[in-house]
Amino acid sequence: MKISLSTAATAAAYAALALPGASATIYYAGVAESSGEFGAWSATAQVGTGLPGQFGVDYAFISNSGIDVMADQHKINLFRVAFLLERMCPLATGLGSKFDESHFGHFKDAIDYITKTKGAYAILDPHNYMRYNNPSSQPFSGSVIGNSSDPTAATTAQFGAFWGELASRFASDEKVIFGLMNEPHDMPSSLLLANLQAAVDAIRKAGAKNLIIAPGNSWTGGHAWTQGGAEANSAWLHKLVDPLNNTAIDIHEYLDQDFSGGHIPCTQPAATNLAGVTAWLKQHSLKAFITEFGGSNTTACVGMLGDMLDYMAQNEEYIGWTAWAADPCCTDSAQYGSLEPGSTAANGGPSLYDTI
Ligand SMILES: *[C@@H]1O[C@H](CO)[C@@H](O)[C@H](O)[C@H]1NC(C)=O
Ligand SMILES: *[C@@H]1O[C@H](CO)[C@@H](O)[C@H](O)[C@H]1NC(C)=O
Ligand SMILES: *[C@@H]1O[C@H](CO)[C@@H](O)[C@H](O)[C@H]1NC(C)=O
Repeated sequence: MKISLSTAATAAAYAALALPGASATIYYAGVAESSGEFGAWSATAQVGTGLPGQFGVDYAFISNSGIDVMADQHKINLFRVAFLLERMCPLATGLGSKFDESHFGHFKDAIDYITKTKGAYAILDPHNYMRYNNPSSQPFSGSVIGNSSDPTAATTAQFGAFWGELASRFASDEKVIFGLMNEPHDMPSSLLLANLQAAVDAIRKAGAKNLIIAPGNSWTGGHAWTQGGAEANSAWLHKLVDPLNNTAIDIHEYLDQDFSGGHIPCTQPAATNLAGVTAWLKQHSLKAFITEFGGSNTTACVGMLGDMLDYMAQNEEYIGWTAWAADPCCTDSAQYGSLEPGSTAANGGPSLYDTI
């Protein structure tokens, strides 16, 4: 749902500025790669639209040359790579340990390019909003994973089996970070916790020691972390147990009026809006990544993005981030273009990569 905003160039510039008095460290900084989830949305909401889709046409994962520019010239060391569960685990066999091996092969090529060829870190990002079976009008379509009153829903155990399998395939690559799910929303927080716990348990049972990042409910919005009373993320997410204590929290935070990333003006300052979640992280001795954030190419947004990067650099709870988004193949013509090197804006003008 996000328009492609913000920039790697700004991000890298701010990351390089050591602030006087700053004691915290950002270990990982980079960009979210959007497009493995592309091509499934349909104006008519036809179930199955875009599946499996054609690699390189409807969707891709990365552009190697774009990764080269970002890693070599901008010294970015983290890429978050989106993919769609229904492509990795086709509907015919369901969510679980049975993968479409040719699809997985393309995905593994992308991850290996990032971690082995470039020596950077990669976040695996199932871009499914904690839903599976019908991504034709994502992010709202599809049955919530683990909804036992929905006969078409995948189960919590299937979600665990999927993560156990994926983790076993990347267990030997310590540069791979497991992002359990993109933006769960509109579901009971108890079910979210159960699903996340099933995934963590399966990952560790598979022998993978990799860093895990776990999202909250409500689109994992940082500003909303303590809202919602008994359903609030702040009432649930610290209950997630990782026997290796190697799990961090995965937060998203956009700077526009409704935190959606869909509006041009930036009006929501990060330092104010993240205060609640930062205090909660501190209280529970947790660390966090912000794996989606952005603003447009207005002067106000550039300033506020800089402030946000400063905020993360100054608060030790934050250890990494990826800006939304580079788009290696299948742009939906985001008005201002993307963070992809060499991309253009919808009007043919310079993209965010060039303008900010
Ligand atoms: C679970 O499924 C039932 C039956 O389809 C539905 O009414 C309910 O809204 C679903 N719950 C969630 C959280 O989607
Ligand atoms: C994880 O943290 C808990 C609570 O602080 C501690 O009891 C346990 O020993 C830790 N486990 C590892 C493997 O460090
Ligand atoms: C923002 O990007 C658009 C599209 O390329 C361009 O027309 C506009 O001039 C840019 N504004 C700034 C301040 O760079």
